[in-house]
Amino acid sequence: MFKTRMTQMFGIEHPIMLAGMNWITEPKLVSAVCNAGGLGILAIARCTPKETKENIRQLKDMTDKPFGINQILVGPGAKENITVAIEEKVPIINYSLGKPWFVNDVHAYGGKVVGTIAIAKHATKAVQLGCDALVVTGHEAAAHGAAATSMVLIPLVASMVKVPLIAAGGFYDGRGLAAALALGADGISMGSRFMVVKESMVHENFKRLCIQATEQDTLYDNVFDGMDGRVLKTKEAEAMMKRGFPLIAAIKGALLVKRLMNLSFLKFMGVSMEMLRAEEGHPLMVLARQAVGNMKHLKALNEGDVEGGILFAGQCCGGITDIPTTKELMGRIISEAEATLAKLNTLKV
Ligand SMILES: Cc1cc2nc3c(=O)[nH]c(=O)nc-3n(C[C@H](O)[C@H](O)[C@H](O)COP(=O)(O)O)c2cc1C
Repeated sequence: MFKTRMTQMFGIEHPIMLAGMNWITEPKLVSAVCNAGGLGILAIARCTPKETKENIRQLKDMTDKPFGINQILVGPGAKENITVAIEEKVPIINYSLGKPWFVNDVHAYGGKVVGTIAIAKHATKAVQLGCDALVVTGHEAAAHGAAATSMVLIPLVASMVKVPLIAAGGFYDGRGLAAALALGADGISMGSRFMVVKESMVHENFKRLCIQATEQDTLYDNVFDGMDGRVLKTKEAEAMMKRGFPLIAAIKGALLVKRLMNLSFLKFMGVSMEMLRAEEGHPLMVLARQAVGNMKHLKALNEGDVEGGILFAGQCCGGITDIPTTKELMGRIISEAEATLAKLNTLKV
């Protein structure tokens, strides 16, 4: 058992978080993590406000443990979804990309705000804006890590800010948990590892592909959804890198998002302008390129299309070898971390 600032702040048993993953961290997987003593995070960025409310309520029926939501702040529906989460008094609001405008509202009902950062200087800013804890994402991560690896970024950020840190990017076992604690984090967040558990909705074909992958079998580029990000090496991912910027597909994708999210033309343009003004300087076409990436992700997740699909995945796939239940996995990670720390103690002379 571990008692860290992360377990204490969130009232959880183990310092292990299920990373928010659009489409994947649905009530079934989130409740499995919460009920096994970790911190489950429901991803709501793909949801309409109505779906967000339904998913939060469903989750409340499936667990009485603390849980959180994850919302990407740039993009359609972010404000509406955050409003729903606040109305539902979700205990932990985890955001990525963009500035949180809702910190006081969350604190007013006793909730916590957890910012996600991938660049050290953003840590100081997030704490100034009132974040209670931070997820620190290294280059190894699935999706949007930046240039610095976890090994460099975590101790750097730990020296810069006083809030609890949750290390993300490359963590999949107990040795990683022990290492993260040694680097100054208070726990770990895992995405790729939790994609490959029994309760995950990821298609079996892609679970198998993650298991077969070596640590070399991911690709990092901005062609997948317009931002630098890491995906599993598939035929389509390699083809996207060769093709470069997909203008026609991006325009089609943007129109699809508009239709799926039920956005009026004015609202769609408003969202696009907001993205233009976003702190990270996302250009207008990022939204459209996200849509292209989303369609290919859905091909992977739902249809298991290993030819035409793409899937965000991290380098740690190289170390994933099985499909355990969430409870088995978490028990194993805690025992391995304890054994690792005990072994390290024997090295002292
Ligand atoms: C399929 C997929 C979808 C993701 N979607 C989101 C998301 O919606 N919001 C977010 O902040 N991070 C998202 N991420 C990134 C994860 O939250 C996390 O940072 C990453 O998986 C950690 O690295 P790891 O895979 O090495 O554990 C996603 C990752 C994957 C694999």
